[in-house]
Amino acid sequence: CGIVGYIGTQAATEILISGLERLEYRGYDSAGVATVLEGKINCVRAKGKLYNLREKVEREHNPAQIGIGHTRWATHGKPEEHNAHPHMDAAMGVAVVQNGIIENYRELKEELISKGYEFKSETDTEVIPHLIADCLTNSQHSLLDAVRQIIPRLEGAFAIAVISADHPYELVVARQQAPLILGFGQGEFFCASDITALVPHTHTVLSLDNGEMARLSPLGVEIYNFAGDRLNKFPRTLDWNLVQVEKQGFRHYMLKEIYEQPGVVRTALEAYFNPNWHAQDNPDFSPVTLSLSPRLYEDLEHIQILACGTSWHASLIGKYLLEQLAGIPTTVDYASEFRYAPKPIIGNTLTIGVTQSGETADTIAALETEKERRANLEPKLQARLLGITNRPESTIAQLVDQIINTQAGIEIGVAATKTFVAQVMSFYFLALDLAFRRKTLPLEQIEQIITGLHQIPTQIEKTLESQANYIEELAHEFTKETEDFIFIGRGINFPIALEGALKLKEISYIHAEGYPAGEMKHGPIALLDTKVPVVAIAMPGSVYDKVLSNAQEAKARDARLIGVTSAMNAQEAAATFDDVLTVPEVEELISPILAVVPLQLLAYHIAAIKGLDVDQPRNLAKSVTVE
Ligand code: G6P
Repeated sequence: CGIVGYIGTQAATEILISGLERLEYRGYDSAGVATVLEGKINCVRAKGKLYNLREKVEREHNPAQIGIGHTRWATHGKPEEHNAHPHMDAAMGVAVVQNGIIENYRELKEELISKGYEFKSETDTEVIPHLIADCLTNSQHSLLDAVRQIIPRLEGAFAIAVISADHPYELVVARQQAPLILGFGQGEFFCASDITALVPHTHTVLSLDNGEMARLSPLGVEIYNFAGDRLNKFPRTLDWNLVQVEKQGFRHYMLKEIYEQPGVVRTALEAYFNPNWHAQDNPDFSPVTLSLSPRLYEDLEHIQILACGTSWHASLIGKYLLEQLAGIPTTVDYASEFRYAPKPIIGNTLTIGVTQSGETADTIAALETEKERRANLEPKLQARLLGITNRPESTIAQLVDQIINTQAGIEIGVAATKTFVAQVMSFYFLALDLAFRRKTLPLEQIEQIITGLHQIPTQIEKTLESQANYIEELAHEFTKETEDFIFIGRGINFPIALEGALKLKEISYIHAEGYPAGEMKHGPIALLDTKVPVVAIAMPGSVYDKVLSNAQEAKARDARLIGVTSAMNAQEAAATFDDVLTVPEVEELISPILAVVPLQLLAYHIAAIKGLDVDQPRNLAKSVTVE
């Protein structure tokens, strides 16, 4: 979901809607805005995507200079207009938008109903305006005080923005474990759940911390903690520019982001490798410039990685690298599982949270669990937390000891592409740094891997150049009757099979499963017939022949076989595969970054040809700040 709020000198509605458009990638079931004018709240909401709301508000001229807006990803209650935010207490004229979940809303709702309050929605959020109204009815509170009074009654992770008809110069916001950022303009102030909504207006921002709230008025911003103490804080200036959030001539953000991948890898290489390092000349310092604090890596016995979705796939490649290059036993858990069933505590453990947005609720909660349960233990059992994220200003960055900033630039397409590649790059840096420090690899081998990585940007460019048209053509064959796809891979490319399948199902709505190639015979093979294509990632290397024989097993069941392999092996592969997608010749160890590119293109083109909403697929959200 996304929140925006505005108070200042301009008409609020247009600023709110254009802000919501920039947040729409975070959730898009329904949307709404509420403003205050002449002692009345004007609330307009619409089901579906934002243009429905835009059409509605454009029917009337509304000069109000204060307002809040919301784009929703349904948690409680179907995506219908009556469940869209803002939610109101109509009698008192209080309107609220919320990101997150109020876990104890049922009790609160019953209590409010028994007091005579009427509910218009099935949402958890609606309890908030009624609670505030109840507080205002019984006292002379300011809006800020009323919100502060009711906050202790709300359980869960949330961020809220509140306006009231009787307080036309006040916009109140509060944050408890869901992101909320304030923006400072000239005589105007903003709030939003993500800086993308603020960048057209200001680059001066301040992220609220948990347990903080703020009052925005036309004259300024006051920040308080939930106890009511006034806090002094400095805003900061954002250093990245707006261009990054435009489509730049591409039909979809996702396609643009796929094409940005060579640049993303180049940026990462420049940021985290010392260009002057040579194995022979510099045996004493690391080629990697992550500048990790020694506390994080000294005497490591174990690494545990926590992540969700595509970040979980990047983590599986990370595990392979950390184990095979640095020799450190590594586990990867879904954050949503780990938080309720954490593993027994092992000493000298590095915990890595991987999240491009830095806000995924499950990942944050899993890291918090880890931090808390190790807090009072002996030194070797204490938490050492590292974050891998694309958003250095995010919640995860505040939670962990140190982050690796993947520097991929903002990603708008809901299906992650360039941020995945950037996360995988971070794992190469980390694994090579640890391999150097622990002396688990000869320096010459480290140098060889680094040389290979430097070729990746050009190799991605070549892949895009040589494959784009072919894959677009091929995609036409799967847009009508195909209902299932199987992706298989082994070793370091098994996670690429998972990622290829995830991309396809996310945006084309074709069912797809990723499997370790050797496991296909234990189940998925039963699904195969002429209508179920199998994509095999067959990169030359230690498991190449094995993958080919697994692919043969599929062929024997009449499945259409698509192979992803190196250009060098294309001829040989043509004997096995019906269609061959090629990438330049590459060492197996760094092949996943190339192998994923044709799969991203395949998913993209199938979805685009089907005329689907590639950037904002149904039911998904870019950043899932609820459990
Ligand atoms: C959502 C997105 C996915 C993403 C996952 C984890 O489901 O749609 O693209 O991989 O969240 O997000 P994170 O920000 O933690 O990497």
